[in-house]
Parts: sequence; structure tokens; C-alpha cells
Amino acid sequence: MLDDNVVFKVVTYGSPEYIAATALRQAVLRTPLGLTFQPEELAQEKDHIHVVGLQGSDMLATASLVPEGEYCKMQRVAVKENLRGSGLGSQMVKFCEAYAKSEGFEWIYCHARDSAVNFYLKNQYTTEGDYFEKCTIPHILMKKFLR
Ligand SMILES: CC(C)(COP(=O)(O)OP(=O)(O)OC[C@H]1O[C@@H](n2cnc3c(N)ncnc32)[C@H](O)[C@@H]1OP(=O)(O)O)[C@@H](O)C(=O)NCCC(=O)NCCS
Repeated sequence: MLDDNVVFKVVTYGSPEYIAATALRQAVLRTPLGLTFQPEELAQEKDHIHVVGLQGSDMLATASLVPEGEYCKMQRVAVKENLRGSGLGSQMVKFCEAYAKSEGFEWIYCHARDSAVNFYLKNQYTTEGDYFEKCTIPHILMKKFLR
């Protein structure tokens, strides 16, 4: 179970921790939809910032940050299934926000799955625009001002 020993940190693209994070998000985000991350998508990740939540060597959570001008896009947010609803996702989002703020970004945003909208609302994100389809399911843009 989750305890206080979860460490959030940024890991290097291509490192063993990055590889473990890609396995977690494939299992959480794509396999249930019958999809896989494509080589082109993974190749783009060399320019992204990769965040993980670890307990010892156990990969519990992951997200990626994509610099886009004054915006920081947060994507591929995934928490291990048996730990959902325990506050881990919110802790990781706070880490991502603090990191983005420290790097000088004004805003953080994501494309939220409809099933995750309440999670982001609870973390003070607001919706913008209409739902759109991505990876076969409805998503909506959600953002938060960091200053
Ligand atoms: C969405 C997700 C990252 C949230 O992390 P978490 O650790 O479960 O969330 P927290 O415990 O910090 O926050 C709890 C809130 O998250 C939401 N939540 C809880 N379980 C969830 C689940 N299985 N799927 C989606 N949202 C969930 C609820 O709004 C919950 O609020 P409540 O306790 O008042 O009902 C995580 O549930 C997950 O990985 N879901 C599957 C992948 C996904 O949808 N990723 C986001 C893509 S945009």
C-alpha cells in the first residue's frame, strides 16, 4: 500500500527508470484501449521532461511535461491501478506544477480524458472549449495558472 516513502523526481530520457515509466503508461493508458505508443511518439520524448513516482524501485506513477512557449503541457499521466484514489496522482500533479513553475512557465495544461475531468477539477484545473476525440475517447483541454 501507499505510504510516505514515495519519491517524485525527473528522470533522463532512455534511462532504466524512463523505460519502466513507459511500461506503466502503456499498461494504464493504451493497452486497455487496444492501442500502443508508436515509435514516432516515443522518439519525440527525447525533448520532454519525464516525471516518476517511486517507492524504492517500484514505479507507481508517471507523467511527462512538454515545453510549449509560456505553456507547459502535462501528458501521459498514469497511476498504478491498485493505488488509484489514494492521493498519489494529486501529489504527482503538484510536483509537475512546482517543476513547471520553477522552470518559468505561466500555465500548465493537459488534454484530460472525460473519466479524469473530476480529478483535474479537484486539482484546480478549469476546462476550455469543447470535447474532442483522441485515442478513441473524449478529451477536453484543462489548464491551471501557475503564478
Ligand atoms: C487519473 C489518475 C491519474 C488520478 O490519480 P489518482 O491517484 O487515482 O487520484 P487522486 O487519488 O489523487 O485523486 C482522487 C480523484 O481522482 C479521481 N479518480 C479516482 N480514481 C480514478 C480512476 N480510476 N480514474 C480516473 N479518475 C479517478 C476522482 O475524481 C478522485 O476524487 P474522489 O476521491 O473525490 O472520487 C489515475 O486515476 C489514473 O491513472 N487513471 C487512469 C489513467 C488516466 O485516466 N490518466 C489521465 C489521463 S488524462
